Amino acid sequence: MTPGEAQSRIAALRAEIARHDELYHRQSKPEITDFEYDRVKRELADLEVAWPQFASTESPTQKVGDDRVQGFKEVAHRQRMMSLDNTYNEEELRAFHVRLGKLLEAGDQAYTVEPKIDGLAVSLTYEDGRLVRGVTRGDGTKGDDITANLRAIPSLPRELARQGKGAIPKVVEIRGEIYMTQAEFERLNALRVADGDEPYANPRNTAAGTVKLLDLEEVARRRLEIVLYSLGHCEPEVVQSQSELHDQLRAWGLPVVERIWRVRGIDAAWAAIGELDRIRRSFVYGTDGAVIKLDRFEDQRTAGATEKAPRWAIAYKFQAETGRTRLKAITIQVGKTGILSPVAELEPVFLSLSTISRATLHNEEEIRRKDIRVGDLVEIERAGEVIPAVLRSFPEERPQGAKEFDLYAAVGGKCPVCGGKIAKLEVNTESGEGVAWKCQNYDCQAQRVGRMVFFCSRRALAIDGVGDIVAAKLVELDLVRDPPDLYDVPLETLATLNLGTMEEPRIFGEKNATKIVAARETARALPLEKWLYALSIPDVGETTARELGRRHRTLAEVAESKLLQAVLEKARLGEQRELEAPASRKNPAKTDEEKARRKELCARLDADMVALDGGILAGVPSELGPAVAASTLDFLASEPGRRLLAKLRKLGIDPAGTVVEAGIFTGKTFVLTGTLPTLKREEAEQQILVAGGKVSGSVSKKTSYVLAGAEAGSKLEKAQALGVPVIDEAEFRRLLKG
Ligand code: IVH
Repeated sequence: MTPGEAQSRIAALRAEIARHDELYHRQSKPEITDFEYDRVKRELADLEVAWPQFASTESPTQKVGDDRVQGFKEVAHRQRMMSLDNTYNEEELRAFHVRLGKLLEAGDQAYTVEPKIDGLAVSLTYEDGRLVRGVTRGDGTKGDDITANLRAIPSLPRELARQGKGAIPKVVEIRGEIYMTQAEFERLNALRVADGDEPYANPRNTAAGTVKLLDLEEVARRRLEIVLYSLGHCEPEVVQSQSELHDQLRAWGLPVVERIWRVRGIDAAWAAIGELDRIRRSFVYGTDGAVIKLDRFEDQRTAGATEKAPRWAIAYKFQAETGRTRLKAITIQVGKTGILSPVAELEPVFLSLSTISRATLHNEEEIRRKDIRVGDLVEIERAGEVIPAVLRSFPEERPQGAKEFDLYAAVGGKCPVCGGKIAKLEVNTESGEGVAWKCQNYDCQAQRVGRMVFFCSRRALAIDGVGDIVAAKLVELDLVRDPPDLYDVPLETLATLNLGTMEEPRIFGEKNATKIVAARETARALPLEKWLYALSIPDVGETTARELGRRHRTLAEVAESKLLQAVLEKARLGEQRELEAPASRKNPAKTDEEKARRKELCARLDADMVALDGGILAGVPSELGPAVAASTLDFLASEPGRRLLAKLRKLGIDPAGTVVEAGIFTGKTFVLTGTLPTLKREEAEQQILVAGGKVSGSVSKKTSYVLAGAEAGSKLEKAQALGVPVIDEAEFRRLLKG
């Protein structure tokens, strides 16, 4: 591997992990199994060790996944919530033991072995024995305040019972996991299916999604459970070891793990892990591994921690259940953006309590990489009840004549749903990039259905009740072409939709239809950012939609956006600048005269770019880059885009942006430098924007204030040289208050 190759592989892996982190932690909708995820992460970690010049503290290998979402108050943990290193192999576990033995100058140090619960990490704070707060892990330092949702967990005591040997601490952070039992999960899904909604994928994600609901009644309707196993900040200290903690938690009346083993040395730990693996299927929560911890807190303190995880604990993860079966065929699904994705059609096989006949194959590249062919014997895996995945094939047992999979040939060169043209394109969405075949027909039925479902999804307009089945029916009956057509479907038509067959009708019903009608009316008043997101504009994800919504008043204004035009203009100037640079590689200046002329031209281009930056583009974040600008403007000017805008106009839907017309900072430009004591840079920027001000990247005479924190650099010097007022966070807060 060359350094260049290593660097680009590292970048690709980081992007991939970031995408899966977002899916898992924030959206509770993972696409791959934990095992696959860990494998990708391991590859990245290995590369970062081999190529230290490309290591970064920003790498996902150095941070804990962030679960924070909008709508909750952020609260700081008193003690950091860390993640755990994990392994799937016995040797690494033994190496962990040897490492600790050296560190502690021991060899038979005591451990606890306990189940690793597959739920959502949470930290509870009890003050003088009363539950005062519950917070998610967040980024480890700060999490979302979910106290209200936690109060909906009946098995969680609001007060600690006063028994056991230790007194009740003044303040204690108790950590554990929120989960949903299999039985509750099945009960909820039965209800959903009866309502015509898509069933939830698995208990872990349903629990995580429930915790992040803002609707308390809905939270209470779904029964969550909690189990506690670890300590954060505790004053005064009441226990000295993990095994004592377990007993103390139980004495306080808190739900604890059903079994914990206290052992000496690694052989005994290994035996306990084996026993846990044999009994774990009878537990009420999903268990995906064992956590091995040094028992004595004093030993834990000696061992210490890295940035991300303690050195005194490790998770040993059980292999997901795998099975072998035949790959009968590869079919192609078409998503909302027209991307063609391959699906494995399998000889049914029984795995992890259910029969599996389909599995995901992600994309064509992956099929090639894993050399998977129709007719092959394949190994499939199902873990944490996410969509089963095909892990590998067995080329040695391949039937003769099995051909390499060619997606284009498989679909006969056209979209399998609408028969339209397909093209191989760079796909670049908020959630990932790569090369894929795409159906080019915006009016493809599959795309219509996909966009409809997305339009109604929670994160978009939250029109509950329009899942895959309902959306497909509406599109099939040609009641809906573009999502806004939903507004034209009368209540009676919705109520009488038949989601079943002629022989076995399943009527959607008045109650469900009424819910949709109410939700679509509520959605009318949602802000521009939600609508921009809901309309499936290529490249416009949640973040970009939010940034656009803050800077435009109406959809029509976005369609004609001066700001986006300026973003494109700046990119164009930049390109020209590169080409005209006297020492340009492609096009070097030949004579001195030409050099001088081009130098002057470049100076002008630079000045124009600086003017854009200090003017209309001041404070515009990198999310609103040229690619987003081009695709937003192009889409809204295209035939489908204009059609959408016209439909919304006709419906009288005119969502408003969150532009601040006149705030305390209107007309003021800020430059930020250094680290502020409490505010994060984005937070300060946000406050300035909300108050009508602008944020710029460079100091000039026009700068109103430089907001400086610790380790401020050259911007501070420049401000002083130009006589621009320099303020600190405290002064900034005073200004904000007016
Ligand atoms: S101890 C400082 N014990 O697994 C280490 N964690 O993959 C604190 N988890 O973030 C964690 N069961 O959310 C511990 N018995 C257990 C656990 C457990 C599940 C979770 C926890 C942690 C994650 C790491």
